[in-house]
Amino acid sequence: MIASQPLPEEGPASVFPPPLVLDSLDFAWPGGKTALRGCGLRIERPGLWMLVGSNGSGKSTLLRLIAGLLQPCGGAIHTQLKPALVFQNPDHQLLLPSCASDLQLGLPEQLSAAQRQARVELALEQVGLAGMGARPIHTLSGGQKQRLAIAGALATDAELLLLDEPTALLDPTSQQEVITLIRRLCSRSEAPLTALWITHRLEELDHCDGAARMDAGRIGPWQNGAALRVGLAPLPTGRAER
Ligand SMILES: Nc1ncnc2c1ncn2[C@@H]1O[C@H](COP(=O)(O)OP(=O)(O)O)[C@@H](O)[C@H]1O
Ligand SMILES: [Mg+2]
Repeated sequence: MIASQPLPEEGPASVFPPPLVLDSLDFAWPGGKTALRGCGLRIERPGLWMLVGSNGSGKSTLLRLIAGLLQPCGGAIHTQLKPALVFQNPDHQLLLPSCASDLQLGLPEQLSAAQRQARVELALEQVGLAGMGARPIHTLSGGQKQRLAIAGALATDAELLLLDEPTALLDPTSQQEVITLIRRLCSRSEAPLTALWITHRLEELDHCDGAARMDAGRIGPWQNGAALRVGLAPLPTGRAER
């Protein structure tokens, strides 16, 4: 008797809804500038997913739509995850003077003081800043500030990180720390995060689970990050070009 073939193992993608589906999004800025035209994207499972594209191709606009800061003119965004944006310059999103006070700012109001404290400490630990709650933010390096911004997202239970060139202003060591951190958060066995990361630094494509090109308001198919990198030549500014 022939043994029956085992069924393929069911991964999260087949059990849960996809983390993010964009269905034919259209968006025009007031004044008429069209930023997205029939833009579609499907992320099937948690992981680190990257977008590259020339300036003005609509990448930042897209992240703002997914975050809910802008409303699409057409199409739909399907996600059950809580989004959080991480910008290029952490100084634009860190508001209060110490690490802990900044993280406290984003926490749900109903938490007790002890719960708030525990959340802050856990978030700092998750990004490699354990014990630094009292540190004034202005004493942090650029990489530490960016990791604190990511801790802010974690403290609010975000599950979908939207990172808009998060390493563009960082030195190579800090860049590596941030990418290693996000890689780890997106690969952990328990509650892995989904990250959509915009980059102009092509070497970062080697670390993603899939990469796609954005051009004139539309996103192409997912590709292997390293393979996509080979097809893109850096400009003197370090920016990806078609
Ligand atoms: N706040 C804004 N007001 C009007 N037009 C904007 C604004 N932000 C971006 N745009 C326009 O939308 C298009 C896409 O921009 P953007 O999403 O910033 O692209 P990218 O991040 O890929 O460089 C561009 O033509 C840009 O000029
Ligand atoms: Mg941009």
